[in-house]
Amino acid sequence: MSMTGSRAGARPDPPSTPRFHQIRHLGDEPHELLYGLLRTYGDFVRWRGFQDVYLVNHPDFIRPVLSRDYSHFSKRTIDYRVLAQVMGNGLVTNDGPHWVRQRRLMQPMFSNHRIESFDGRINALTASLMNEWETRVGGETLRIDREMGRLTFGIVGATLFGSDLERHAGEVAEILEVANLNPFEPRALMTLCSWVPTPHNLKWRHAVRRLDRIVYGMIDARRQRGAGGDDILDHLIRALGEESGEGMDERQMRDEVVTLMLAGHETSANALAWTLYLLDRHPDVQARLAESLTETLNGAPANAGDLSRLPYLKQVVQESMRLYPPVWSYARRSEQEEEFEGYRLPAGAYVAVVPYALHRHPKFWPDPERFEPDRFDPDRGEGRHPYSYLPFAAGPRTCIGAGMAMLETQLVLAQILQSFRVRIVPDHPIETTAKVTLRPRHGILATVSRR
Ligand code: HEM
Repeated sequence: MSMTGSRAGARPDPPSTPRFHQIRHLGDEPHELLYGLLRTYGDFVRWRGFQDVYLVNHPDFIRPVLSRDYSHFSKRTIDYRVLAQVMGNGLVTNDGPHWVRQRRLMQPMFSNHRIESFDGRINALTASLMNEWETRVGGETLRIDREMGRLTFGIVGATLFGSDLERHAGEVAEILEVANLNPFEPRALMTLCSWVPTPHNLKWRHAVRRLDRIVYGMIDARRQRGAGGDDILDHLIRALGEESGEGMDERQMRDEVVTLMLAGHETSANALAWTLYLLDRHPDVQARLAESLTETLNGAPANAGDLSRLPYLKQVVQESMRLYPPVWSYARRSEQEEEFEGYRLPAGAYVAVVPYALHRHPKFWPDPERFEPDRFDPDRGEGRHPYSYLPFAAGPRTCIGAGMAMLETQLVLAQILQSFRVRIVPDHPIETTAKVTLRPRHGILATVSRR
């Protein structure tokens, strides 16, 4: 593999698919469409739609995009512009030197040490959800994906923003729901022309206004009370007041807060919901996991330090995110011409990395549809290509919350699985739909009983 910049001009284009081929699927199942194209045409494919999409599905091609040559690939694509309508210029959508500065500022707030100190709060919030479930034992159906959404939103609030978000939790979650669109959907694209009064644009604008009121209110209240504490809001406010010229303005702070709210809860909620679904479908895995939990924890919640003694728990989460990567795709724009294996990638191209397809690449994942947590047994993973598994992306723009996500998913599962048996309602259809995150199209319905 070589990347030769503008010298690659004489190279042929990668295999192309017919123009507007299967475009009707782009709206609701783009993940299946792109996966199908990669299965048919190979590891580097040009999909000629209304905008050419270059799909890269070989770990050797993905590595330079995300890591080695990451500065040749920007986030100046339509999806990030859509996301920016809500997230503004926060860490996910920001780019260039300004992003570098913000990332440096925020990285220490996500150090392992800090993240691990969240375990008590995560466990307390999970315990309070378990208390609610206690009253619903015996038949009442729960929407597991929504239950997990409520929990992870509470976790982001309590760990990153103190108690300030708590009283707005319901309202904010409802507002953010408006923003969870597949960026290829016409109504998502229309948000780029926000002055056009389509019904969705009106709803969207109203949602953003409500969100702004809450977030600016939160920032204001904290400033008046004094930001002497240690949560992210305190850190951001202190940066706001810095005299060094490196501090951020209030708008930037709002954008970082909204970005963390959005990026930090929907993703983990999906990971948890899909894992509970997979465990129900694989009773052998569930039994083995439950046994290992009881053996190590004896009914008590896990703390961060216990997790190293529960390797199978981590493997289950990893394997679940292989099959159902919450962020099923992410895009970049090539800022200069590049070359992959003799094929040309032009400057200005829309490049998509699709974990949903990559994690099913048969060369790296034999029998890819099979749910088999032992794949992630550390002894078996040796020699696996590090870019064949990318639920959190990789390189400088890797997920800043990956450590937090791994901690919370494991702690929450450890507690649920020791207390309850979660049974998925058998005749309820389970299908994926790809919005910003990969979701269960009809939700995941379950009943709970005491273990
Ligand atoms: C299972 C849960 C999660 C998954 C699968 C996930 C996945 C990802 C992925 C794939 C990216 C890169 C996206 C891109 O290149 O555009 C990303 C970025 C990001 N994630 Fe996560 N994430 C998760 C949880 C979290 C949590 C808990 C937080 C914060 C509390 C968070 C905050 C962020 C931020 C701020 C970025 C942008 C980082 C940057 O570009 O500097 N994520 N995440």
